[in-house]
Amino acid sequence: MAPVEEFEVEQLSPVFAARIKGIDWTKPVKKETLSKIHSAFAKYSVLCFPNQILEAKHQENFAAQFGRADSAHRNPTRGNVKQGKKRGVMYVTNIRKDGKPIGSLPDGEMYFHSDGSHRANPYRATTLYGIDIPSRGGETLFADLRAAYDALSDEIKIKIDDMTACHIYDYGSTIRDQNKEIETNEEYPSALHQLVKTHPVSGRKALYLSRLMTRYIEGIDRAESDQLLNYLFDHAEKPEFIYSHKWTPDDLLIWDNRCVNHARNDFPKTERRLLRRYTVSEPDDNDMVDY
Ligand code: OGA
Ligand code: MN
Repeated sequence: MAPVEEFEVEQLSPVFAARIKGIDWTKPVKKETLSKIHSAFAKYSVLCFPNQILEAKHQENFAAQFGRADSAHRNPTRGNVKQGKKRGVMYVTNIRKDGKPIGSLPDGEMYFHSDGSHRANPYRATTLYGIDIPSRGGETLFADLRAAYDALSDEIKIKIDDMTACHIYDYGSTIRDQNKEIETNEEYPSALHQLVKTHPVSGRKALYLSRLMTRYIEGIDRAESDQLLNYLFDHAEKPEFIYSHKWTPDDLLIWDNRCVNHARNDFPKTERRLLRRYTVSEPDDNDMVDY
């Protein structure tokens, strides 16, 4: 029997995220190796595989090792329509053709969020593959929501343990706009989630909230909700919980949306940024209605 592939794990921040060298995702990966990679994913929650030369099908196969790879082709339209946004591959890019973005999430800064938290069944994970990377800016920032949870006082932990929050996504926006009352508009997809979730694999508790998408906590008054959420957003974005990923072309990343938030730094409009994105859904998720 051929030996298990050897790979090297380099932790990228004191609390999470790791770079793994020695795997080629254009080739089948042995079962034993995969199982070690799954353990690393449960532990580090953000994995970077550098120097991957991947076609879309390779990335889809990679995504499929972590759950159900979403493979539909998404419509690049933006705007708050509930139709035409199939789960699946999309290009995250600022490249424009005839003045129109050819992909999604085109420009600038993006606030912290967890992909799909506006759905009842969010994405388990997201994979992103770097193709064209600007010379400066455009880093993807990751925040470890387990470390953030662990660092809360017992008083806050007890207070928020049974709370539920409403997550809403405005497809046209990459920053939070407090003044825009989007909650009552049915065009904006939304979902309720526990504020604290226990990870099904690691068993660790994590905060589940984000500045971009979490609008309010259920069952308490709005002023108290705003105050508590702002406290928690600031807490979860403290530098000690953050890893900033400076992209190199051919980096393949996967992150766990169940315990990690991500955001993006601004980058020059005059430079190309192009990444390919496949999401991973829960295998038993049959919520194929897409928005
Ligand atoms: C995403 C995303 C951030 C980035 O693809 O979901 O938030 O750095 N991308 O482009
Ligand atoms: Mn995202």
